[in-house]
Amino acid sequence: MALRLALLGFGNVGQAFARLLLEKRETLQRDYGLTWTVVGIATARHSIACDQAGLDLHRALLAARAGDSLAPFHQGPALSNSLAFIQACDADVLFELTPLNAESGQPAITHMQTGLRKGQHVITANKGPIAFAYRALRDLAKGQERALRFEGTLLDGAPVFSLVSQVLPASRVLGFRGIVNSTTNFILSRMEEGLSMTDALREAQSLGITEADTDYDVDGWDAAVKTAILINVLMGGDVTPSSIQRSGIRAITTRAVMDAVRIDRRFKLLAQATQQGSGVVGMVAPAMLPTTDPLAHLRGTSNALTLITDTMGELTIVESNPGLAQTAYALLSDLIYVAREHHPAGL
Ligand SMILES: NC(=O)c1ccc[n+]([C@@H]2O[C@H](COP(=O)([O-])OP(=O)(O)OC[C@H]3O[C@@H](n4cnc5c(N)ncnc54)[C@H](OP(=O)(O)O)[C@@H]3O)[C@@H](O)[C@H]2O)c1
Repeated sequence: MALRLALLGFGNVGQAFARLLLEKRETLQRDYGLTWTVVGIATARHSIACDQAGLDLHRALLAARAGDSLAPFHQGPALSNSLAFIQACDADVLFELTPLNAESGQPAITHMQTGLRKGQHVITANKGPIAFAYRALRDLAKGQERALRFEGTLLDGAPVFSLVSQVLPASRVLGFRGIVNSTTNFILSRMEEGLSMTDALREAQSLGITEADTDYDVDGWDAAVKTAILINVLMGGDVTPSSIQRSGIRAITTRAVMDAVRIDRRFKLLAQATQQGSGVVGMVAPAMLPTTDPLAHLRGTSNALTLITDTMGELTIVESNPGLAQTAYALLSDLIYVAREHHPAGL
């Protein structure tokens, strides 16, 4: 099975995924009979490149690392924007990897709708579209008989959605509790060591783990977006990020964090949801957890999510210090899923 791939967004995640594609090329071919060609890469300020014969991904990565334009790789009439890119680039799978818009999910929702209507499978690490338009995108994908995959939107790629949909049949998720934003956990861990929030945030930025707009991390928007995704996808809810009760970590001082350590407590940004009546209530807020709470021990970029289920009780997924490599892996595992489920004859 040969799949043509288009990458919409070629920043931290897009480039990490490209590196993993190259690294796993032989494994994909040998173990899954899957070969791939990247036929297009689109960015906002570094131009758009399409080539139906396949782009040289090594050279595209070198150009991106040097901050150069991708224009020299382009073949054919110039493409003015991302929608023209989706239409012109004849891809089987569209990867939507543009920045999060935590207020509306756009323009990524339109990117994904355009790709699905064109008959492309869509894989994303962008939380916005899944938080704001999950039902519409899911129904569109179903109508088009295409895949919509988004494992990379949460817990840096740890298999949350696959776990529930594939490994826990006939189970209901009744609620959850967790630490779902790596940046704030990293910042709070560094503040325990005496760093200011500004310096800790700068360090997180240098690791490429923050949102393009870092206020989304610090003010709890990213965690609220993830809470909305979990409620909508796993609990059958219909909420938006703005309906999640939200407060971030901005008001927390290094002194307060260090004082908490002295009394065996840890500041953490907690995301949680519970069923109330016929609805679901989601909340994101800092909490001073006692060290007897397993979540208190998560350090650095680590994430954890406890799912409360009707069949298995509480199940916790812990991911130790994930980074870009894990998000890239989620995209790769989604790609293998697409190949297996939608093109089985080729595998
Ligand atoms: N970084 C992480 O650890 C992580 C983890 C999980 C999920 N995510 C999600 O993955 C997505 C990408 O994150 P990232 O860290 O790779 O972001 P990033 O480094 O800021 O890269 C974003 C890319 O999208 C391009 N872009 C922006 N607007 C565009 C548009 N309208 N059309 C076409 N291209 C556009 C940018 O172009 P220019 O380069 O020209 O600006 C850049 O190539 C985000 O939604 C983020 O929330 C990130």
